[in-house]
Amino acid sequence: MPADLKMYGISKQKGQISVKSKLEEIRSAALSAIASSGSTAELETIRVKYLGKKGELTSVLKMMGSLSAEERPVMGQLANSVRSEIETALDSRASELKVSELNERLKAETLDVTIPGTPVVRGKKHPMSIVLDEVIDIFSGMGFSVASGPEIEYSDYNFTKLNTPEGHPARDRQDTFYFTDDDSVCLRTQTSPMQVRVMETSPLPIRVISPGRVYRKDEVDATHSPMFHQIEGLVVDKGVTMGDLKGTLNTLLQLLYGPETVTRFRPHHFPFTEPSCEVDIQCFECKGQGCRVCKGEGWIEVLGAGMVHPKVLEGCGIDTSIYSGFAFGIGLERLTMRRFNISDLRLLFENDMRFLKQF
Ligand code: PHE
Repeated sequence: MPADLKMYGISKQKGQISVKSKLEEIRSAALSAIASSGSTAELETIRVKYLGKKGELTSVLKMMGSLSAEERPVMGQLANSVRSEIETALDSRASELKVSELNERLKAETLDVTIPGTPVVRGKKHPMSIVLDEVIDIFSGMGFSVASGPEIEYSDYNFTKLNTPEGHPARDRQDTFYFTDDDSVCLRTQTSPMQVRVMETSPLPIRVISPGRVYRKDEVDATHSPMFHQIEGLVVDKGVTMGDLKGTLNTLLQLLYGPETVTRFRPHHFPFTEPSCEVDIQCFECKGQGCRVCKGEGWIEVLGAGMVHPKVLEGCGIDTSIYSGFAFGIGLERLTMRRFNISDLRLLFENDMRFLKQF
């Protein structure tokens, strides 16, 4: 007796009965397994178990050869109807499971689009960046380009080439952060060394501004910080006059503070400009009468300027019989404080969001 016949307890003698009961057994076992299956994966295992190449129905079909000629078509028919019944049950259970599996997935992946989202906090420009961008915008409109230079600077550039020789009080160790014992390298105390750097490397004519950090040994208080910002400006061309300087700076201040802004050019001294001046704006609070904002002066100083000293131009190889120029240095902190009515310089550096959020 072949091994598989033995396995199904079928003997040749009672072939028909045994095959029939085996087929019916397979049918009821398969149908109840299908009915209680819980997933499409499980359903596939059932399909393989009963209908697969090595499945139970196939094993029974293999025994058909041992049946008599009359039995064979009857059992064949029964086997076919068992197979199609199982297939139909598999199909309908599969579509049931598909629906319930989809429903479960939809439930699990539910997204409530009405729940408020996590707010994205948007950063803001620092007030000094706002003002600097405005200044750059204004000067761009007048044909200036923007240059930036090193904060660690040779004393040669920070002082000597700016007509501030060794021994000059402006080079005092009490005010300047030096890196070397011979005081040849320092943190720049002003952006003016950029005048020299630009003149040494750029073709004429020159129209440039150069914003950046500068450093001085000052104690921190409401108006001082050891690190602050300046915006240097330089124009070198044929026939540049003090009138050009005034026109340029008046344009800047009126675009920045409004067309009614009143300015005052007051004589001053800088080693690297001659003549030199400081520029004040009339106090917007008291219109020049004197008040708390302007500390009783009626005027607020905003920048230093002057005609570039011939010694500085010549030191950069510029022929002063043809060319002249003007330069200016603006304090960005002061410009910003005036612009937004900020009373304490320290607010600009403390990174307090309650303050910065207001701009
Ligand atoms: N560098 C000068 C200062 O720090 C300002 C200045 C710049 C003056 C350019 C004249 C010309 O005070």
